[in-house]
Amino acid sequence: MLLHLQTWSEVEAYLRRSTGIIMPIGSTEQHGPNGLIGTDAICAEVVGRSLGERVQALVAPTIAVGMAQHHLAFAGSMTLRPSTLIAVVRDMVASLAKHGFRRFYFVNGHGGNVATVTAAFSEIYAEASLGPGSNSPGIRCRLRNWWESEAVKRLSRETFGNAEGSHATPSEVSLTWHAHPEAVRHMKMEPEIAPMGEFADAADYRRAFPDGRIGSNPDLASPEMGARLLEATVGDLARDYADWMSRG
Ligand code: NI
Repeated sequence: MLLHLQTWSEVEAYLRRSTGIIMPIGSTEQHGPNGLIGTDAICAEVVGRSLGERVQALVAPTIAVGMAQHHLAFAGSMTLRPSTLIAVVRDMVASLAKHGFRRFYFVNGHGGNVATVTAAFSEIYAEASLGPGSNSPGIRCRLRNWWESEAVKRLSRETFGNAEGSHATPSEVSLTWHAHPEAVRHMKMEPEIAPMGEFADAADYRRAFPDGRIGSNPDLASPEMGARLLEATVGDLARDYADWMSRG
């Protein structure tokens, strides 16, 4: 149930039965030697849409560019500054809240978004807390990283072990290959498992992680695994969403 494929009167009818909406948010950034630039946006969108089907909730347009300044030393990567992303999240939530949406369930595809989106939620809540006060029910926002579902973590650990890593992971690459089988490309990674470590700005990141990966071997990815990971995360998120919506 995609917001952009509804009419305004259908959205009005939806709001009579639910005030919840799923907000996919990803990133447009390098994902190692064989991962797509759009990996995080594709994952958030695929998971968000499947979840919407499962729980019969509307799904907003994907926020496809996130906070990814540390990837800018690799061609094709894009970022919003933290302050810009906060403004985007605030304005999208405020627009939908004007019509009566109250529960904003962000399905996130990119670890680098977490701090900024959480700060955006604090801005939204601060506005309510500092305002004159009213009897209207408040806005609630929740952020869930699709790869942190318990079922996904179990499956990733069993299948990829210590080759999962934390960027350009075989799990996220699998999910994009499930969504886009034409994008499958296997190649030998050198070293097989990328180094782990810290980073600051984009130049520092590229020095530490020359091919873009962190701690992973995405050559282990497969479309079949992507299908299993999708099923795993949607199961967990559907329970989480239903539980959240059932609370007053
Ligand atoms: Ni990613």
